[in-house]
Amino acid sequence: MGEIVLVISGASGAIYGVRLAEILGSDARIVVTESGRLTMAHECEGLTPEQLVEKTGAILENNDDIAAKSASGSAAIDAVVICPCSGTTLGKLAAGIGDNLATRSAIVAMKERRNLIIVPREAPYATVHLENMAKLSGWGVTVIPASPGFYNLPQSMDDLIDFIVARILDHLGRDNDLTKRWTGEELQ
Ligand SMILES: Cc1cc2nc3c(=O)[nH]c(=O)nc-3n(C[C@H](O)[C@H](O)[C@H](O)COP(=O)(O)O)c2cc1C
Repeated sequence: MGEIVLVISGASGAIYGVRLAEILGSDARIVVTESGRLTMAHECEGLTPEQLVEKTGAILENNDDIAAKSASGSAAIDAVVICPCSGTTLGKLAAGIGDNLATRSAIVAMKERRNLIIVPREAPYATVHLENMAKLSGWGVTVIPASPGFYNLPQSMDDLIDFIVARILDHLGRDNDLTKRWTGEELQ
């Protein structure tokens, strides 16, 4: 299996990206935007991207390094996941703007017809967010909102986080048993 580019942008919910990084381990190349650094530190007990890659064995790429591996269409990259995805990054993608490594790697995924998954978070959404999501979805991008389901009867915050991470892994084609799967027997 090839590498996955994991972008952590500055929407709330950095913990979803951190958990995904833990599961992907050394298969991930991680890009954290400037705002993503802030939300990660604020929401994840001061965690830095450097500490995250030390823990997971992933490679950390510099968001300002537009010449990094993830920026290239010829690099052996399987998929790009933006988790969480801010309204700013979403808007740039909908406008075709690749002005940093995070947005460039996602635009490259679109042009190379690679799997691109975004996990937007905002509440409420502005019409521009909704229109941008619809645009990206129409272009083949998978939009997984950071909205965990409750039908598995979550017992903890970890369960809620894993619900979203499991859906991302499903769409990356990666086997996982992070959550119970619906069997159809539950309401019998
Ligand atoms: C604590 C904090 C929480 C934020 N939460 C969100 C959010 O949930 N959704 C969002 O779209 N932007 C959120 N923002 C604003 C983004 O960080 C900001 O729009 C920034 O331009 C995003 O840039 P990036 O896409 O390069 O990371 C938040 C900012 C801070 C400081």
